[in-house]
Amino acid sequence: MSTHKSVRIGIVGAGRTGSVLGRSLHGAEYPVIAVASRSHASANRLARAIPGAHAEDHPQAVADQADLVLLSVPDDVIADVCTSIGWRSDQAAIHCSGAGSLDLLSHATEDGAAAGTFHPLQTFAEIQQGIANLPGSTFAIEASSDVLKATLKAMAHDLGGHPLVLSPGDKILYHASAVMIANYFVALADAASSLWSEFGSDQAQSLPALLPLARGTLANLEAVGLPAALTGPIARGDVGTVQDHLAALEVAPEILALYRALGLRTVSIALAQQGIDPATANRLTKALRAKTGSGEPS
Ligand SMILES: NC(=O)c1ccc[n+]([C@@H]2O[C@H](COP(=O)([O-])OP(=O)(O)OC[C@H]3O[C@@H](n4cnc5c(N)ncnc54)[C@H](OP(=O)(O)O)[C@@H]3O)[C@@H](O)[C@H]2O)c1
Repeated sequence: MSTHKSVRIGIVGAGRTGSVLGRSLHGAEYPVIAVASRSHASANRLARAIPGAHAEDHPQAVADQADLVLLSVPDDVIADVCTSIGWRSDQAAIHCSGAGSLDLLSHATEDGAAAGTFHPLQTFAEIQQGIANLPGSTFAIEASSDVLKATLKAMAHDLGGHPLVLSPGDKILYHASAVMIANYFVALADAASSLWSEFGSDQAQSLPALLPLARGTLANLEAVGLPAALTGPIARGDVGTVQDHLAALEVAPEILALYRALGLRTVSIALAQQGIDPATANRLTKALRAKTGSGEPS
């Protein structure tokens, strides 16, 4: 298989990831030639958005024309879709899952094809925004051959991203980290904004009010990194404020549990920042571990 932009790319799974990668690869001058999906309508929609691509009814028809086939389908069906295809030894099967590894593509390697994973460390809720967010992203790569590894690294660079080559067994912790920064950030926004209902505001007001604070925090993380980006009562050692929060949060026990868990992690960051001394860290830790906001274990 050629190692660079002459690689003919086929896409199976014309959803968010398939659309963002297909259109971005075309933008980076890779020949994206054919698309299939569960429904012909999805395949057609994506093929129409990529000059030079056409829709096919079956994954096999895409694989028959492509050097590299991106299986951008839900994690749970990657192995089945891979098994439904007869592979050639001069092509590669690639999936985009963050959690799954090369074993999902064992049928392709049994047929003699190469297998790889190409996971954009990015979130695609919507296609246009996904295309805009893609440059600068890291791409986690696994590959069954050095030639394929070189191709996938070049693809990551050509998409404006940074390749990260992973070893077998790395994927699950890598993906847990991705889920925490992306999905749990959304959960944190939900928890923080829901507290406003306790003082008479709804999420339509609270979320827009909190987002500039979130953006400022991200900008601080980008500018000064960890642990310097941390501010707030734990960074200052304001134990009384933390105790007041704990007492007030008893109205929302699930959010109180989150506050305690993240507070304990925050104490470690404040210590690393040398903003608080070990004695203050100890008082904060006791308050966060106590069953009530009093700071006394019950
Ligand atoms: N979304 C993200 O933020 C993101 C980020 C990085 C990686 N990924 C990974 O990318 C992959 C796809 O996720 P996604 O979020 O893009 O999913 P998605 O938007 O739901 O798209 C999945 C597509 O797969 C198609 N499909 C489902 N079953 C199929 C089958 N049996 N044969 C052929 N096509 C089938 C669906 O087709 P129809 O539309 O025709 O029904 C759908 O368009 C997953 O491995 C995911 O882990 C996702």
